[in-house]
Amino acid sequence: MLTNPKNNDNHSFNIDRFYKKYLKGPKIFKMREALEPSYIPEELPHRDNEIKKIAGITACALEGDVPPSFLCYGMTGTGKTATIRYVSQKIAQHCEKNPPWWIYINCNIVSTPYRILAHIYNTIEGKEKIPPTGLPKDIIFKKLLGLLDIRIKNTVCFLVLDEIDILIKKREGNEILYDLTRLNENLDSCRACIIGISNKLRFMEYLDSRVTSGLSGQEPIVFHPYNANELADILIQRSRIAFNENVLDQGIIKLCAGLAAKEHGDARKALQLLRKAGELAERKQHKMISESDITKAQKDLEKDHIVEYMLSMPLQAQLTLTAIHLLMKYGKGHIITSGDIYETHSELAEKVPGIKRLTQRRISDYINELSLAGIITASTKSMGHYGRTKLVNFDIEKDLVERALSQIEKIRISGILNHKPIVLLTDKVKIKNSVFRKLI
Ligand SMILES: Nc1ncnc2c1ncn2[C@@H]1O[C@H](COP(=O)(O)OP(=O)(O)OP(=O)(O)O)[C@@H](O)[C@H]1O
Ligand SMILES: [Mg+2]
Repeated sequence: MLTNPKNNDNHSFNIDRFYKKYLKGPKIFKMREALEPSYIPEELPHRDNEIKKIAGITACALEGDVPPSFLCYGMTGTGKTATIRYVSQKIAQHCEKNPPWWIYINCNIVSTPYRILAHIYNTIEGKEKIPPTGLPKDIIFKKLLGLLDIRIKNTVCFLVLDEIDILIKKREGNEILYDLTRLNENLDSCRACIIGISNKLRFMEYLDSRVTSGLSGQEPIVFHPYNANELADILIQRSRIAFNENVLDQGIIKLCAGLAAKEHGDARKALQLLRKAGELAERKQHKMISESDITKAQKDLEKDHIVEYMLSMPLQAQLTLTAIHLLMKYGKGHIITSGDIYETHSELAEKVPGIKRLTQRRISDYINELSLAGIITASTKSMGHYGRTKLVNFDIEKDLVERALSQIEKIRISGILNHKPIVLLTDKVKIKNSVFRKLI
């Protein structure tokens, strides 16, 4: 049996005592899941206009007619996905016979034409009939047409393409969209309606004109960012479900809503903030969420956000960042120039299979991007006869960079965080990509 050693050392942590105290302690949450992104609330305050427009477009599906395809767009966290899911539930509640089908595709996850077709097919079948790779696309397309007519018969099938912009950026993405918007021309009994959702406001510019005509017969539904008062209403409604009574006072909700409103009126951020603050109060075994919990939660979320950003950068940008990190780590006090970063990046590129060395110019572009993202500061300095160089420093805490890079190292590029840049080795010199020992 596992035991917890009981010694008298004041510093040892007694897990049994901790859990007992936790169970007896104050309860902050009544239903924690209500703050999860996947939770669909029964009401969506301040989305009446959008719900009304979508209900108007889709109402004919109640009688088996096919609504026109349409697009929804607006900034992140403005309730686009939640509204579509909400409307889909309502339609199902009002359809006694033959409720429409809803197939939900997140193009960030299911991102290739093959996988989109396979996903639609497998969802209708209820099992994985189409393998993840291997069949020609036109064969799956034909199979899908047959399945839609046989299974869905004369009912409407809504195909929701969430984060559609990710698909549109690729040429093949425009092609699959074109095929999907023309599904009805090839179907006998079933009818499909495409709903595209995006938070990239300019994504229409990337749409192929053939696709635009299939998707934009209907005015797009635009989701405006929430203001602080609207966010407060959303938080009040959700906190009634998620928290026990007297855990939160109005001032805390207002503070939370105000902070999230500053960040483009994002309801997801506001809910995350409240949840994190609740967890902080719970960990401290407090009865109520305090202002300092919100401030601390805000700081923690900002850090998570930066780490997430670094994890999602392209590999070459991550290698450029790694080069800066190594120069900083091993060259205490060493002034980092763009030339050093270029050299170190080239050394790292040789260690990673399939990765090419970059030109000085590309490295300079990545330095600019990292600087724009607020991860580093880069100032240009004239070196007289030798031209200009960039001097680089970190703009965020070093341990955040280390946290992100060690995760990247684990997943993508192992063993590069111990590399010592050659420019820092006082006994070595690099001439035309070869390293020599210095003689003096
Ligand atoms: N009016 C609202 N009332 C209640 N909750 C809302 C409302 N709007 C958004 N939310 C909640 O905020 C979170 C984010 O909403 P949602 O996922 O719909 O945003 P989105 O517009 O799809 O964002 P993204 O573009 O990033 O995908 C969800 O948890 C959702 O339940
Ligand atoms: Mg969404």
